[in-house]
Order: sequence, then C-alpha cells, then structure tokens
Amino acid sequence: MSRTSRTALLAALGLITATGATATVFGTATAGAATPGCKVDYQITNQWNTGFGTSVTVTNTGDPVAAWTLEWTYAGNQQVTQGWNATITQSGAAVTAKSLSYNGTLATGGSASFGFNGSYSGTNAVPATFKLNGVVCNGATEPTTPPTTPPTTPPTTPPTTPPAGTKADNPYAGAKVYVNPEWSAKAAAEPGGSKISNQPTGVWLDRIAAVNGSSTSMGLRAHLDEALKQKGSGELVVQLVIYNLPGRDCAALASNGELGPTEIGRYKTEYIDPIAAILADSKYAGLRIVTTVEIDSLPNLVTNVSGRPTATANCDVMKANGNYITGVGYALKKLGAIGNVYNYVDAGHHGWLGWDDNFGASAELFKQAATAEGSTVANVHGFIVNTANYSALKEDHFTINDSVNGVSVRQSKWVDWNRYTDELSYAQAMRTKLVSLGFDSNLGMLIDTSRNGWGGTARPTAAGPTTTVDTYVNGGKYDRRIHLGNWCNQSGAGLGERPQAAPAAGIDAYVWVKPPGESDGASKEIPNNEGKGFDRMCDPTYTGNARNGNSMSGALPDAPISGQWFSAQFQELLKNAHPAL
Ligand code: GLC
Repeated sequence: MSRTSRTALLAALGLITATGATATVFGTATAGAATPGCKVDYQITNQWNTGFGTSVTVTNTGDPVAAWTLEWTYAGNQQVTQGWNATITQSGAAVTAKSLSYNGTLATGGSASFGFNGSYSGTNAVPATFKLNGVVCNGATEPTTPPTTPPTTPPTTPPTTPPAGTKADNPYAGAKVYVNPEWSAKAAAEPGGSKISNQPTGVWLDRIAAVNGSSTSMGLRAHLDEALKQKGSGELVVQLVIYNLPGRDCAALASNGELGPTEIGRYKTEYIDPIAAILADSKYAGLRIVTTVEIDSLPNLVTNVSGRPTATANCDVMKANGNYITGVGYALKKLGAIGNVYNYVDAGHHGWLGWDDNFGASAELFKQAATAEGSTVANVHGFIVNTANYSALKEDHFTINDSVNGVSVRQSKWVDWNRYTDELSYAQAMRTKLVSLGFDSNLGMLIDTSRNGWGGTARPTAAGPTTTVDTYVNGGKYDRRIHLGNWCNQSGAGLGERPQAAPAAGIDAYVWVKPPGESDGASKEIPNNEGKGFDRMCDPTYTGNARNGNSMSGALPDAPISGQWFSAQFQELLKNAHPAL
C-alpha cells in the first residue's frame, strides 16, 4: 500500500455523534487503496463557569503512522491553558496537538490519548472537525475494507509509558496551591484570622472515612472538584496527607489511628486503593497532586525500638511485623503510578533525626520502604521535613561550627551533640544523603513552616553572650521550646514563613501541611472514636520522659484531641508569627 493517493481519498460526510458535552468524529477509509483515516473522541470531562478539562482519544483507522498531529478549530473563544501527553499550541481559534516521543507511533487501529484544560466564556461547543496529519477525520466508523495485509510500516519504537520527565521538576513552580475551604472558614472565623485564611494548608486523609467525607465534611472528591475550580486556567497543587498506617504513631499516643498493628490488609484495600482510584480519575489529571506520605512513622523504627532508651513496646511490634515498611512501599507504588501525583515521604525533623545515630539509619530505612512491595525510588519525588513540628527554619545567631571558649555548640545543652541547628540545614543535608543512596538527583524537599516562626517580642535580635556555650546558644536561639523534643501545642510558637515555591537550594517549597489551629493532642483524657489516645506530652503539668530530656512539656492548656480546632493555639500562632503578619 502506498500513501501517495492520500489526498484523493478525502470523502464522505462527517458523522458526528454528540451526547452532552462529548463528540465522536469518525474517519473513513476508502476501499482498496492507501487509507488515511481517523476517529476522534473529544470529551469534556469537567466544566465550570470559566474553564473546562478534556480527554481526547485519537484512533488511527488508516495506515500506521510514526507521529501524529491533530488539528481542530474552535467556533468559540476556547483557549487551551495546559495540556498533557501532547504538545499543544494554539493560534487564534486553531489548535494543534502533536504527539510526544513516547506516543507518536500508531498502528492501524491504534490510539493515543491526551488531555488539556482550557478557559472559555459563553458556550463551549465541541469542535466539529478534526484533522490527523493533515487529513480530515470524517466518514464511516471503521475502515470499510479491513486491511488484508499487515501494516507496511511497522512501528519503529515500541510504545513506552510516559517518561518521568513529563512531571514538573518542582510542582510548586508557577503554581497556586489549594486552599482548603474547611480550614479557611475556621481560620476566617477567628479574630484576626482573615490575615491568613486564604493560605494553602494540607488536606489530611487521617482515617478511612475522610476519603469519602460525610454530610458535614468534604471527602477527597469534593476537595479535588473544588481544586479544579480554584485552578482556573493556571496550575494548581493540591496537598494531601496520607496518614493512616497500621499501629500509627507508635511512640506517642495523641495521634494513634484507627488501624491496629496487623491491619495492613485494610490499609491497602480500604484506604490506599480507594484514594488511588479517585486520584487516577482523568477528570483530575490537570491537577498537580502532592502527597506527603505517612508522617512520623518510619523514623520510629530507628529511634524508638529496643536498644534505645526511648523504646516503646508498640514500636518494637511495628518493627517486627514490618507493616510500616509494607504500607509505605504500597502507598508509594500505587500513588506513584498516577501520572500527576508527586510523592513526598516524611523525613522527620532535625530535632529527631539530626543525630549521627539516627540520620544515616533513617535515610537507609526510607530507601528500604521506597523499594518495598515492588515500589522503586522513582516513585519518590521528594521528602518533607518538620511536618507538624516546631523546629526553627534557620537559626541566624549560631551555627553548628561555632564554639565558645573552645567548647563546640554541639556540646551545648540545647544542641546536645546534634549535627544540625535548624530545618533548612537538615533538609539540605538529608537531601544529599538520600541522593547518595540512589534517590533521584533532582529530589526536592518540602519544609512545613506552619508553626516554626518563633516571632513576637521574645524573639532574640542578636547572638547570646559568650559567657558559656549555653548562654551563647540559649540567648540567641529563636526556637523557645523548653526542650527540642517537645512537640505538642507549643506555648510561644508562631506561624512561620508563608507558603512559597523554590525558596532555597534543594527546597521545592515551604508549605503549611499542619493546619494552624488544629490541635496536636488533648491536654487530658478525652474519649473519642478515632483511636486517639492521651499523651502526657500534651499536658502542661507533665514533667517529661526520656524523649524530651525529662523536661516540662511546654504545651498550652485545655487542648482538644488532635486534629480538632484549638482557638487558643491559633491565636498564639498569630501573635508570634514570623515574618509578622
Ligand atoms: C494530627 C491528627 C490528625 C489531624 C492532623 C492535622 O496528626 O492526628 O487527625 O488530621 O493532626 O491537624
């Protein structure tokens, strides 16, 4: 079969079936000769006042092609804003979509799909006519004469899955970030809250029921539908927290979860699978979905197990049964398989993993989890540090290399031989370590700055006196916790850096994953049906344990259970914000 007579073959009336907002345009093949032909299924998958999303499938009903160009012209003012799986350009009303390296080859009967988001006003009519490689797709539904000989031009390259490079290196670059309307409303209802109520915060999927939501709370689809509205014609990141491992939070009690230590099966089938099914809906393909994967669990297998003074029986159980590793590996594999999902694994914070004994061992454990259950390191886009913690972003008045009268800052009571003094230096060093272990060299870090501002009138403006190393560090440090190990509803804490993209080398974004104003845990026992326990680290009268150097907890009084709104904490954070509001 030759292709020379292609131009002679354009014939036949267009057959257009339109059902609601979709149209199928079929192509023709004229009997007996080289047969260009095509069929286009253009579906409007989602539409709101000013924007829409599409999914387009082009089927080649003619001879095989090695690359394709699909063209159409809008009758209205539709404007393509962002596409995927094709290079899409627009000039006036005329749109051209070209195949990429991995999806250009179409055998006879083969098809390729791509999608895009667009803006419009008025009506959003489906284009009536499409051209494939210059030839109008019109006519009968299938080739009128099935090919009698095999294709003369075999595909030169086998189709492959899209290369990882089709994802943005930094999803936050050039993108807005989703504002959770539920959190926003609570913040706005607080005195002074409107100063921050339009900030993006994390959506915590902290139990199975959070995926579907209820009559009074938004489920995952409701959030994603709202995200499509907020997206408009630009890029938008949605931040989801994957947080429901079996035996969750084995060293503390305040955020224990609903799944018992052995319930890995339920974690997979009732939690991760339903989330993955929703995220894979093509309707949401234009969103950049950032998942922060399992806060506070893996490092417990390093720091809070037998052999350590801080060991707990529950962490020994989770280490022995392997369900943290299995769960994280499974989540990364399932979610990482979705083209627009960016997984960031939780990597603790410097006040937990910054010691030599913990740092390298934790990085290796992250690698083990990232390669469990058939996952690979390619499923990890980056890591997040300081989630829901209070560690300062950058201590300006002392560094780990300083010494006072010959005594290193590392020997101060506050630093206590840690290798890092703040989150920025920790995140950058952890990134380097993870890359050295085989994670992607473009790995990006996130830092949760929701509550690490430590501003207000008590914020030091200069280094401490050099009387001793302790006066030097204590006088200069921003972090005013009683002990670096304190973590619950900290008195004196303030909002930190506002969320922003690419703020420092190796850092994809500063984010507010922990929503300011949501409690870390109850200050006394409060019965609940979420599996949450009472951890005395949230009780302001508690004198501590091995994990906080047997210090006072520093917690605010009268706190509700973790996750619930805690007005006094919100007000504390506003008051001590740094940068100030
Ligand atoms: C805690 C809670 C969780 C909540 C989250 C965000 O980890 O255990 O339920 O969603 O904080 O506030």
